[in-house]
Amino acid sequence: MIRPLPIAACLALAFSLHAPAAFAQQPAGDADRGRALTYTCVGCHGIEGYKNAYPHYHVPKIGGQSAEYLANALTEYRRGTRRHPTMEVQAQSFSDQDIADIAAFLSGLTP
Ligand code: HEC
Repeated sequence: MIRPLPIAACLALAFSLHAPAAFAQQPAGDADRGRALTYTCVGCHGIEGYKNAYPHYHVPKIGGQSAEYLANALTEYRRGTRRHPTMEVQAQSFSDQDIADIAAFLSGLTP
């Protein structure tokens, strides 16, 4: 008898097959535009040198991550597939081009 795959394995498989197609359309990023767009992010993420303005609450390090990772995270917040009240609000105003530009700029930083 063939045992069905556990649900978690099915979901992981479905996601890994789906993700590259969903994110394949991202435009090329312009880091100079990204710099201007990330002006408001510094207050929380403390991009320059990681001096976090909110030391009492955890924010992930975003500078120097891969552009693909950053663009995927922002796209998920924008779609609401990754839930976080603040970041959903941040991401909702961005176009695909904005996200690509932000990812290009942040990924080029050396923290
Ligand atoms: C009010 C504070 C705040 C502001 C402003 C803010 N962020 Fe965030 N950001 C957070 C927090 C908190 C998280 C972690 C959320 C979670 O756990 O999903 C986060 C998560 C992220 C992540 C996911 C990182 C990871 O490792 O998964 C990215 C990318 C990101 N922010 C980019 C930005 C960008 C770009 C801006 C500016 C446009 C911005 N954030 C503005 C608080 C903020």
